[in-house]
Amino acid sequence: MNVFVIGSGGREHAIVWKLAQSPKVKKIYCAPGNGGTAELAQNVPIPIDDFAALAQFVKDEGIDLTVVGPEEPLLAGIVDFFSQRSLPIFGPSATAAKIEGSKCFAKNLMTRYNIPTARYESFIDYPSALAYVREQGAPIVVKADGLAAGKGVVVAETLEEAEEALYHIMQEGAFGQAGARVVIEECMRGEELTLLSFVDGETVKPMITSQDHKRVFDGDKGPNTGGMGTYAPVPHMSAELVEEIVEKIVKPIAKGMAQDGIPFKGVLYTGLMITAEGPKVVEFNARFGDPETQVVLPLLETDLVDIFVATVNGELADVDVKWKEGSAVCVVMAAPGYPGDYPKGQPISGLDQLQQGATVFHAGTKRTEEGIVTSGGRVLGVTGTGKTLAEAREAAYASVRSIHFDGAHYRRDIADKAFRHTK
Ligand code: AMP
Ligand code: GLY
Repeated sequence: MNVFVIGSGGREHAIVWKLAQSPKVKKIYCAPGNGGTAELAQNVPIPIDDFAALAQFVKDEGIDLTVVGPEEPLLAGIVDFFSQRSLPIFGPSATAAKIEGSKCFAKNLMTRYNIPTARYESFIDYPSALAYVREQGAPIVVKADGLAAGKGVVVAETLEEAEEALYHIMQEGAFGQAGARVVIEECMRGEELTLLSFVDGETVKPMITSQDHKRVFDGDKGPNTGGMGTYAPVPHMSAELVEEIVEKIVKPIAKGMAQDGIPFKGVLYTGLMITAEGPKVVEFNARFGDPETQVVLPLLETDLVDIFVATVNGELADVDVKWKEGSAVCVVMAAPGYPGDYPKGQPISGLDQLQQGATVFHAGTKRTEEGIVTSGGRVLGVTGTGKTLAEAREAAYASVRSIHFDGAHYRRDIADKAFRHTK
């Protein structure tokens, strides 16, 4: 089979890397790809919003399956565009992807299907939103309705912070149309957990659990980022808890969407808070997580291409999705200044001095005549695997220490939460 992966981050490199291990996969293409995917796939310089050009490329090259990494093309309807042309593609339709693209849409679904989540109200006019925030008091969570690259959420500890966020989103238009509507939520307390699931509209096959580290600095300090590191599976989240999440949250939402005539096909990302009252949904995403994928796929035993094909064909029930023993830890190395402004084009060295059990997934890199250089905020995701979480963490950090680019920064406490629980 020839497979085409859309996207250019660490998640897409991990997908390409896993597909490359399949005996069924002959050639992989990646648009636009990065310095890492270039080693396993043919990078194709087609913009990911140019659906006509992407579809033409698929026809010209005889590509059998397209896999979409990021949310933007999903929400813009790439799956609908390809499906109308009978080109097999892995991912949800634009309507189903709204579960990520509109927080109101997601909240409505959850209310209708009794899915546990934070209490909320949504507003399109500023005075009512402000009055509601004042009535509820802090702590409180203010969210722009639409896509805001992870920056549209403010967990306000004080009323002042909440009012400021509301003003920023609704009056100053910080996120444009994405903030024309806001969702104001009860602040949940607890530990966060990610559960990715393959869903073919009917059947749900959960992956292993993982945990992201969203803040930029150690000890969960500083601003939110796209994710500074992950580990999987999360040892202090029991099989019973996962079962509860699948039965009370993932399956009912998939069933509800199918009933509503908008079946979800692809990877459903459930972001959870494990509260004193049990697991509650923080958000749904319509795709693999980044950097969750970089710890989940290395532990997948089953051929990923079989899962993709079965999902597209609605035959996921026939696939036995198996996982390897052991653990994985991914440490993200970021450019100086990230998540703010950062330089690009800095040479990276040490990529060939990896520890046993380590793999580097490129996120923001580019291959040039002089070698691999930085080209994004999150530059690399260094994944270590091992029999134990401690081994996996050591493999990741030992490799991180041998990789260099100017001003690189990374968190030193990835997976520490797991060790705190097991002490
Ligand atoms: P989201 O983009 O909705 O995932 O929100 C980003 C981050 O904000 C989450 O990962 C949580 O850490 C935090 N967050 C979002 N909603 C809530 C909430 N209702 N209560 C507490 N924290 C939240
Ligand atoms: N790691 C968070 C996300 O992919 O949305």
